[in-house]
Amino acid sequence: MSSPVSSAAADLIARSNRLGADPKNTNYAGGNTSAKGTETDPVTGEPVELLWVKGSGGDLGTLSEKGLAVLRLDRMRALVDVYPGVDREDEMVAAFDYCLHGKGGAAPSIDTAMHGLVDAAHVDHLHPDSGIAIATAADGEALTKEIFGEQVVWVPWRRPGFQLGLDIAEIKRQNPQAVGCILGGHGITAWGDTSAESERNSLWMIDTAAAYIAEHSKAKPFGPSLDGYAALPADERRAKAAALAATVRGIASQDRPMVGHFTDSEVVLDFLAHAEHPRLAELGTSCPDHFLRTKVKPLVLDLPASASIEESIARLEELAVSYREDYQGYYDRNATPDSPAIRGADPLIVLVPGVGMFSYGKDKQTARVAGEFYVNAINVMRGAEGLSSYAPIDEAEKFRIEYWALEEAKLQRMPKPKPLATRIALVTGAAGGIGKATAKKLAAEGACVVIADLDLERAEAAAAAISDELGGGTDVAVGVAADVSDEAAVKAMVDATVLAFGGLDLVVNNAGLSLSKSLLETTEADWDLQHDVMAKGSFLVSKAAAKVLIEQGMGGDIVYISSKNSLFAGPNNIAYSATKADQAHQVRLLAAELGEHGVKVNGVNPDGVVQGSGIFAGGWGAQRAAVYGVEEKDLGKFYAQRTILKREVLPEHVANAVFVLCGPEMTHTTGLHVPVDAGVAAAFLR
Ligand SMILES: NC(=O)c1ccc[n+]([C@@H]2O[C@H](COP(=O)([O-])OP(=O)(O)OC[C@H]3O[C@@H](n4cnc5c(N)ncnc54)[C@H](O)[C@@H]3O)[C@@H](O)[C@H]2O)c1
Ligand SMILES: [Zn+2]
Repeated sequence: MSSPVSSAAADLIARSNRLGADPKNTNYAGGNTSAKGTETDPVTGEPVELLWVKGSGGDLGTLSEKGLAVLRLDRMRALVDVYPGVDREDEMVAAFDYCLHGKGGAAPSIDTAMHGLVDAAHVDHLHPDSGIAIATAADGEALTKEIFGEQVVWVPWRRPGFQLGLDIAEIKRQNPQAVGCILGGHGITAWGDTSAESERNSLWMIDTAAAYIAEHSKAKPFGPSLDGYAALPADERRAKAAALAATVRGIASQDRPMVGHFTDSEVVLDFLAHAEHPRLAELGTSCPDHFLRTKVKPLVLDLPASASIEESIARLEELAVSYREDYQGYYDRNATPDSPAIRGADPLIVLVPGVGMFSYGKDKQTARVAGEFYVNAINVMRGAEGLSSYAPIDEAEKFRIEYWALEEAKLQRMPKPKPLATRIALVTGAAGGIGKATAKKLAAEGACVVIADLDLERAEAAAAAISDELGGGTDVAVGVAADVSDEAAVKAMVDATVLAFGGLDLVVNNAGLSLSKSLLETTEADWDLQHDVMAKGSFLVSKAAAKVLIEQGMGGDIVYISSKNSLFAGPNNIAYSATKADQAHQVRLLAAELGEHGVKVNGVNPDGVVQGSGIFAGGWGAQRAAVYGVEEKDLGKFYAQRTILKREVLPEHVANAVFVLCGPEMTHTTGLHVPVDAGVAAAFLR
């Protein structure tokens, strides 16, 4: 029997969801909230005071009961007596586990002390842009007084932990009139006797700070406009971003492969269009949440919007070298013998004036959120510069957070990445059949996938079906329209891929159709259509994709869904089988040509895939079934009987072969065709 959620916890969840739903209140997954209340102890039958607090990880907007840690308040507060002092405060995090009430729920976070020790029934700790602007202003303490009077107290920067909890508890004791505090360099904490009061106080602090900034900010917080740095028109921005994406991803992936996100939001373009952006970007972000995801500072291209692609690439490559040296210097200056090893020196945020921002992470969601956090940081800088000057926490403190043993432990606890994690796949003709099954398999194994097909609606529907099944929305799969026989459409498709996920690693040439006619029946138009979609289409796709793969410098895979018919000679198939043979030879030619770039090129030869195949559904299956005297629904089984293994071939079997060819095990195989036909001796490779 599960006990009903306590009313204090229910109020807490509802309040957290409301606060987390509005990005002005806190960044994604940032901040934490708590409630204290009394329940009956199931062991003694006596009342027991409990603390419900958002656990480690998780987002306030979607917080539910399982995201809460539940602690016994008496035990949590008793930790004050064994607290060994600020130098050993990290030990207290492990001690929280000995305060837990019942099992399940989330792990208590580092901020648990602040929530438990402050003497208020409800506490909110948030990272609002407006609040952090005050928290990072050089005269933040004076501004806090000026804006909030005695109601809000300034707390100088201190790394989150047990001592910060003790400090804030003491502040509340000494300032009974206060409703919250500004945490220097970091964010805000507010409290109340009821859930409603805590929420009111949080919102009041956030809105009051924002209103004050709006009213008192200087006109141009980022300085005068910079000549030549204004945003390019939208289509030029996207074209330039697409042309730079592969190079920038290569720069961001020198230590480990990254997925990318691109945004050309107003906030970013405005920041880059004004004179102070280089100085501010160099100062770096301040809120711990921000720089853990964005690195201490971004890489900023120091060329105007009009710079050519060639100039931009050349300069980005120089800047990447100095960025890495600079980051290594930061590590070397601050690391102690017990610091964790350097986690890679590549930028996570790359800013391109006039164009926008690329952000990177181990998966699409992480990359997107890193970008969101840099937008938060820009808002913070604008607010702080508008009132005063922006003064983030210093480098040594940033390092202490970034290479904190507790942070390292969190990273070590992360689940092992899936085999295709960080890989960006493009599958043509993937709205149905073999292509869709392949896209789904690649996504299930961790890849980000772009589903391209003639019809946008079908492509998007396939992407949505895969995302629904795997969870993760457009972070997993997106659909684009493209006719692979049209060079401009192919370029647009590859551009859409690199803008969606930052780059491209894995291309599946799957789009196709089958007319199956005798030589005399085959018209010139039939011949051209078959060859346009398959031979020419896969040539165009491979060509556009290879440009990206080469620029990225991260290797890659191209897989052709060729056919048994590329080898097997039978009647009534001249146009289809000839173009399949063409595709099969493209595999060998490109394997030979692209190997020096680390790009493997392989093929799969399926046969008799009836289920789910549009080729068979479009009347051809019915016709074949009639020829063989079986019902159309039994055609797959009929084909199975003609194979050596007597097994029906499904789209999933072809998909599995694609995965194996480009997965982590087949690292030394290129120029190969894998038959997936349940055994057809006439199509054995020789
Ligand atoms: N089904 C089989 O038994 C079999 C056997 C051997 C090879 N193949 C090959 O597998 C591939 C997939 O076939 P399927 O059986 O899944 O068929 P399918 O018809 O279900 O899928 C082919 C997809 O390609 C798309 N397409 C067609 N022309 C296009 C173009 N110009 N641009 C972009 N997309 C286009 C179609 O809209 C369709 O969604 C094809 O290349 C086919 O030749 C299939
Ligand atoms: Zn915080």
